[in-house]
Amino acid sequence: MKLTLEAHGQTRTVDVFSQEGLEMVSSLWVKLYAQYKLTHNCTWMGVPIIQFPEDIMMMEELIWKVRPDVIVECGFAHGGSALFYGSLMELMGKGIVVGVDVEIRPYNRIAVQNHPMGHRVRMVEGSSIEADTIRQVKSFIRPGDKVVVLLDSNHSKEHVAREIELYREFVSPGSYLVVMDGAQAFVWDMPDGKQEWKDDNPLAAIEDFMASAKGQDEFEIDEHFTRLFVTSNPKAYLRRKTGR
Ligand SMILES: C[S@@+](CC[C@H](N)C(=O)[O-])C[C@H]1O[C@@H](n2cnc3c(N)ncnc32)[C@H](O)[C@@H]1O
Repeated sequence: MKLTLEAHGQTRTVDVFSQEGLEMVSSLWVKLYAQYKLTHNCTWMGVPIIQFPEDIMMMEELIWKVRPDVIVECGFAHGGSALFYGSLMELMGKGIVVGVDVEIRPYNRIAVQNHPMGHRVRMVEGSSIEADTIRQVKSFIRPGDKVVVLLDSNHSKEHVAREIELYREFVSPGSYLVVMDGAQAFVWDMPDGKQEWKDDNPLAAIEDFMASAKGQDEFEIDEHFTRLFVTSNPKAYLRRKTGR
């Protein structure tokens, strides 16, 4: 079975069942997902969660692997993702999620507070890169806690680079800094895409950081969690090295 794709003035034909075919079909699916905003169609226990189902599954695996005491999530939105992580913590019998958002709408706050998993979630309103926000986040972390940090807020390269700089210190050895939505780099050419996303995206921030001395010294990219090909989070799973 062959697939022919015409894009940007070039035509490519590949065998669908080859590695190249798998990569091409996956990348097309990511573009369609973004164009049709299919990620806005899922809920976790009744609350919208804006993630690819494949990525939700990968986060389940990551959380079970690390068994964190605290998950810091920049970009809380409706709170569905925080409640998902909180549900896993409930099953594990420990842990809280600290959700940060520049705006937590009152009805979202109330829905999370009243949710059966709401007791696992703390909310901090403010820009993720403001000093007061960082101070509040820090107040939820105790010495020795295992901490995972998820960056899923403003997806500009500059903002994500600043978040990486500010939040990487919270990530405990062997745990993860997950920089989400790097696939913005690959969907600029969909009908609703923006030309500037080609260079201005979280993936560019990840690549710059991982090319830096600090990045190489402190973290390594774990490809295990991107093995399903269909993901919004390429090169996103930065594992903190243990020997520091
Ligand atoms: C993609 S949504 C987060 C989705 C959520 N993590 C989920 O999986 O359901 C991005 C969120 O980032 C928030 N945001 C944008 N700029 C921000 C900033 N500077 N600081 C904190 N949050 C920000 C937006 O208000 C929005 O709710």
